[in-house]
Amino acid sequence: MLINQQNLPLVAMEFMNEVHFEDVALLNELYELILDYEKTPNKDNRYKINAKYMQWCNHTILHFKGEEEEMLKKGFPVYMIHKEEHENALKSMSDVFEKWQADEDIKYLKEYVCEFTPKWLVNHIQTMDTVTAFFLKTGQSLCSMG
Ligand SMILES: [Fe+2]
Ligand SMILES: [Fe+2]
Repeated sequence: MLINQQNLPLVAMEFMNEVHFEDVALLNELYELILDYEKTPNKDNRYKINAKYMQWCNHTILHFKGEEEEMLKKGFPVYMIHKEEHENALKSMSDVFEKWQADEDIKYLKEYVCEFTPKWLVNHIQTMDTVTAFFLKTGQSLCSMG
């Protein structure tokens, strides 16, 4: 297992926690497929990684969109900052996938999925998502600039 669901920080909105748990489940599945490919680097195992990676990307697009729609609806003051972090993450996901398609460098893919992404996810949840969920729930901002 790459990430234990129980170690994931929780935020004040349940719909966000649920999506984060789904995200972790997909990452854990992707992790297993990467290990399989390392053991047996054949076409079949490569396709399995590709399919799961696409599934994870599509889920992430919806994950981010769901948060962005709620932020817009409630008039979250720093919507753009949160959205920008989402956009950068989607861009890296797509860049890494293209690189993997081009060079089949499993070490690089593994580092991105298994090291960079868990750290990114926990950090994003502890900062952007926490502040956003608190605002969605209470209408108050945790991030006063004063
Ligand atoms: Fe999130
Ligand atoms: Fe987010």
